[in-house]
Amino acid sequence: MDYKPLVREAFEARKYAYAPYSNFLVGASLLAKNGKIYRGCNIENAGFSPTNCAERTAIFKAVSEGVHEFEAIAVVGGSRDAKAFSLCFPCGVCRQVLTEFCRPDLPVIVARSEDDFEVHTLRELLPHGFGGADLQP
Ligand code: THU
Repeated sequence: MDYKPLVREAFEARKYAYAPYSNFLVGASLLAKNGKIYRGCNIENAGFSPTNCAERTAIFKAVSEGVHEFEAIAVVGGSRDAKAFSLCFPCGVCRQVLTEFCRPDLPVIVARSEDDFEVHTLRELLPHGFGGADLQP
């Protein structure tokens, strides 16, 4: 699969990041099985803890529209005036939320640019994750 268009969407999503406190702007693009792409950005809050990461914004947008099956997610992040980007991996909370809805082999694309990215799997990012099956008696 060509991930470049998905990475481009993540950069588009990043434009809407609301990050007046950290000035670290993140964009995520989540490709659903139905072909739709759900964009998300980080949304900060003066209370700090209510801050929502870009990845979770994208997932919650999709799930709130009844979409639960996903093919891949791309993530880009960097400071507001960054000239070049380092890789921005999903935080631990977002890895857990991804685990709720995605297969362990979900490709997680982290990008420096449209042409420079790495592809990891969710399993690599969160091995031995806790899931719904663990709650079965
Ligand atoms: N952030 C994300 O949106 N995604 C990540 O994977 C890492 C961190 C956001 C949260 C906060 O608004 C800012 O980046 C600094 O932590």
